[in-house]
Amino acid sequence: MEFHPVCKFSDIGLGEAKAAVVAGHSVAIFNVRGKLYAIENICPHMAAPLDDGSLDGTKVTCRLHFWEIDVTSGKCVEPDNGRCVATFPVKVERGTIKVGIEEIKADVSDVSDVSDENFDKFLP
Ligand code: FES
Repeated sequence: MEFHPVCKFSDIGLGEAKAAVVAGHSVAIFNVRGKLYAIENICPHMAAPLDDGSLDGTKVTCRLHFWEIDVTSGKCVEPDNGRCVATFPVKVERGTIKVGIEEIKADVSDVSDVSDENFDKFLP
């Protein structure tokens, strides 16, 4: 996992949020009583950004239709419908907030066996 610098810790006040694009992911970072949480910045309802929602404790309320997301787990808590957003690890190093993004590595070691004559064995 690689941690990417986003901003200074002092850039996000208590109870505030900041949006960022981190390694291609839209991320919202929330400061809950001095502890930082990073979640996907896309509401699981209709994709509104969550960074401009209202934060109450560990819940952010989306501005569009008021779904509530727990920023510690990424789970939708109101309505409790099983929907969720991704969460990301956060750390602060020398005053800089860093968000961890898992690299997705494709294993292409066995594609050498794919050729026209055996392509059909990959079909359903
Ligand atoms: S888009 Fe967030 S509640 Fe509808």
